[in-house]
Amino acid sequence: MVSEVGGNIGLAVPVVLDTDPGIDDAVALMLALASPGEIDLVGISTVGGNIGRQGTFENAHRLLQLFGREGVPVGFGWGVEADTPAARHIHGMDGLGETGLPLSGEPEKIPSVELMARLAAAHAGRLNLVAVGPLTNVAALLREFPESKGQISRIVVMGGAVKRSGNVTPSAEFNIYKDPESAAEVFASGIPLLLVPLDATLKALFPPGRLARFDSLRSPQGEFFRRLLRFHFKASKEALSLEGSFLHDPLAVAALIAPELLKCEPVHCVVETRGEWTRGMTLCDFRHGSKKRKTPNIEVAVDADGEGFLDLLCERLMAFLSNFED
Ligand code: RIB
Ligand code: CA
Repeated sequence: MVSEVGGNIGLAVPVVLDTDPGIDDAVALMLALASPGEIDLVGISTVGGNIGRQGTFENAHRLLQLFGREGVPVGFGWGVEADTPAARHIHGMDGLGETGLPLSGEPEKIPSVELMARLAAAHAGRLNLVAVGPLTNVAALLREFPESKGQISRIVVMGGAVKRSGNVTPSAEFNIYKDPESAAEVFASGIPLLLVPLDATLKALFPPGRLARFDSLRSPQGEFFRRLLRFHFKASKEALSLEGSFLHDPLAVAALIAPELLKCEPVHCVVETRGEWTRGMTLCDFRHGSKKRKTPNIEVAVDADGEGFLDLLCERLMAFLSNFED
């Protein structure tokens, strides 16, 4: 596949999405499927996070069946067994805004780590791993298949908070907080890594008014998307007094489609794993000009063009969902 990304003719990159669907995870998956010119989705590895790992595994299959992409392999991952009550509140009892998507058949439980290792080898040197849940699977991959470190081109992580408060504790964001040890291992892996933290994702509040653009859709897919977002709007208002939704995960996918939407800088970043009050904190060394500043080990998106991202997201999703209209 050939794509025009930022004016350059390039090949669509092979991507594995490591995810805990989750409403914003579902939107991230839709954006990936809506962008075949830039993204060749070669696999999904699920992880426990927003809801338990059985639920996230089944939800990934539900979404692929809804969008006619059952051919994309799905891994059954590590991570939390038990449900995360707060996340149920934001993502619904089914993790997908109580949209009640059907699941047909008994999906085969390919271990996520084995699937990721197989795809890393098959796409050695080109595979981009987009991780939008806790990093339990990714750390396990790097431990159990160390050769994958030389095969993965880049990891893009939605997680952390670098110059602002977290969303689980004042210092920690959910994906990092759920498994700080794994995050610390992944950040220290030496694989090129772009961190997309709350500092960037909270620049794009999806207002309810933008959903009107999708009102003309009559397909089950269009109806699903509207119900998904309406649930998230309601949950965000009740839990956070917001007029709209912060859709964190699709911004990590957008980094592969329109990198110019993010303001990034190289930085040394570590994850606190022991602090009584700071466990899960992503601590970055922004001491510009200081001789004490540590050598950068990752790139971090310190800002984002929120409106530009929302324009891209709505444009891609409307075109994608229109394909399902009669
Ligand atoms: O903090 C936001 C992250 O936590 C997103 O990935 C969301 O899906 C939840 O997993
Ligand atoms: Ca997620």
